[in-house]
Amino acid sequence: MNYAVTYGPKVLSDFHHYNQRLAVMSYAGGNNTRPLLLYGPAGTGKTAFAWMLAENLCADVSQHDILFINGSMENSIDTVREKIATFASVTKFNEKQLSIIIIDEADGFSGSAQNALKAEIDRLMAYTLFILTTNHLEKLAAPIRDRCKVTHCPWPMPDELLPLAQKILAAEGEAVSDEKLLQVLGADYAYIKGLSYRQMFQRLEDLVGLRRMRAIGSKPAEESKLS
Ligand SMILES: Nc1ncnc2c1ncn2[C@@H]1O[C@H](COP(=O)(O)OP(=O)(O)OP(=O)(O)O)[C@@H](O)[C@H]1O
Ligand SMILES: [Mg+2]
Repeated sequence: MNYAVTYGPKVLSDFHHYNQRLAVMSYAGGNNTRPLLLYGPAGTGKTAFAWMLAENLCADVSQHDILFINGSMENSIDTVREKIATFASVTKFNEKQLSIIIIDEADGFSGSAQNALKAEIDRLMAYTLFILTTNHLEKLAAPIRDRCKVTHCPWPMPDELLPLAQKILAAEGEAVSDEKLLQVLGADYAYIKGLSYRQMFQRLEDLVGLRRMRAIGSKPAEESKLS
């Protein structure tokens, strides 16, 4: 089973980080169209949050109001101009009279594509919400950052992940002490460090997999590390 799919966020309130909650509040109702720029390390929920916020702002209208561009794959000035211009000309708008353009991994845009994006933001932002994500804030041109509400998505700490991790294990029929689970989640209080959601799901899948293998009599070498 893929835990990320089964236990990943389903509604906006599943995003618990303070900055994300603040973003939800400030964009609620679709009146705020200041571009939102989500930045932070891998696996902290930037793309998932961008989609969920966009779908939420579009209520139950079809996704024709949302354009998704992956900046690491479609990064030329022509792509930006053609895709965004075409979308802006054909979009039918949802009930909030808002269309949404998600630019995931926006730092993948070339310098000229970023310049074109800057112009498109100025041209369209009255009725288009741009949501950008990046792992590398410094790779985005200063004028783009300047136009955005810049929102940090940090790694959650293991003790922040603990309630969700316990909920997942309970749903899987596994009981693990908080202390053991914090070890699995990498809590090392000498080097206080967070963990991505992606890593959390992987570690829980490994933990449950190893326990089930043990239950049927198999003892892989890594078992001692986790169980
Ligand atoms: N608040 C959350 N609670 C539970 N799961 C989450 C949460 N946020 C994100 N996830 C899950 O974590 C995984 C990684 O999320 P996502 O791909 O959005 O991260 P990202 O920040 O865009 O990573 P990258 O920088 O590598 O693109 C997904 O499976 C997502 O469903
Ligand atoms: Mg992403």
